[in-house]
Amino acid sequence: MRINTHRGGKLRAFGALLGMLLLTTTVYADDIPPLEERLQLCGGCHNPDGNSVIPENPKLAGLDAKYIARQLGDFKAGKRSNEIMSGIITMVDEKEFKALATYFSGQKRSDGTSDKPDLVAQGKQIFDEGVIGTAVPACAGCHNEDGSGSDKFPRLNGQNPAYVVNQLMNFKNKVRNNDPKAVMQAVAKRLNEKEIAAVAEYVTTLKEAE
Ligand code: HEC
Ligand code: HEC
Repeated sequence: MRINTHRGGKLRAFGALLGMLLLTTTVYADDIPPLEERLQLCGGCHNPDGNSVIPENPKLAGLDAKYIARQLGDFKAGKRSNEIMSGIITMVDEKEFKALATYFSGQKRSDGTSDKPDLVAQGKQIFDEGVIGTAVPACAGCHNEDGSGSDKFPRLNGQNPAYVVNQLMNFKNKVRNNDPKAVMQAVAKRLNEKEIAAVAEYVTTLKEAE
């Protein structure tokens, strides 16, 4: 008997706690959390300054704000999917996208390093000149020679090579197909896996021209 009462007490306490949690969630659904608080979520994976040190997670620092906001919108709408980001974005309200994009866009992109000079040299050739035999266009033609990009083409300098490889494979396999006019899918389908590894290794060594 005694044990039962004790359990009932615990259960009621648990119920109250659950109620509080639900209440907090409801408040957040209507009221957007402050940017600093939201940044703690993003910063856990992309680093507080947007220069992710986790190889599969992209550096967001210095990306064009409109590009960031559009990617967030595409994750939310299911036009771009990734098992991690697609889950995260369900917690974030569309009204937050602009402030998040502005914040990460304003951060300075950190430099990357490579200890594979041969791969880097091969990648540089592809990046600057393309691959003539298979009609791969020069990446520099759109993303700029220093990889700094523009409001139309995302910044690539210093980006984590594992992330770049994943994106090029995703474009090649049409897993990522949210690129306007399928321009990157057309580029990536012409690249083989060795070329993808090389060009990804090169972009991480690119530094924005002064
Ligand atoms: C649990 C880890 C995790 C969290 C938390 C997270 N992200 Fe991501 N994010 C990722 C991964 C992994 C990718 C790469 C997705 C892919 O490969 O397509 C990514 C991709 C992105 C991209 C695409 C970048 C590009 O260059 O196209 C943006 C933008 C982004 N995240 C913004 C955010 C924002 C803003 C937040 C906070 C609201 C956030 N992320 C929280 C893991 C995370
Ligand atoms: C004709 C222009 C063009 C050329 C040439 C081009 N790209 Fe792109 N690239 C784009 C556009 C546009 C996007 C953005 C797609 C989007 O908005 O979803 C992009 C996106 C990317 C991304 C994803 C960036 C991110 O943050 O997720 C990578 C990686 C990339 N390009 C690498 C390359 C490489 C490597 C080459 C050369 C082999 C190349 N691109 C050639 C136009 C181009």
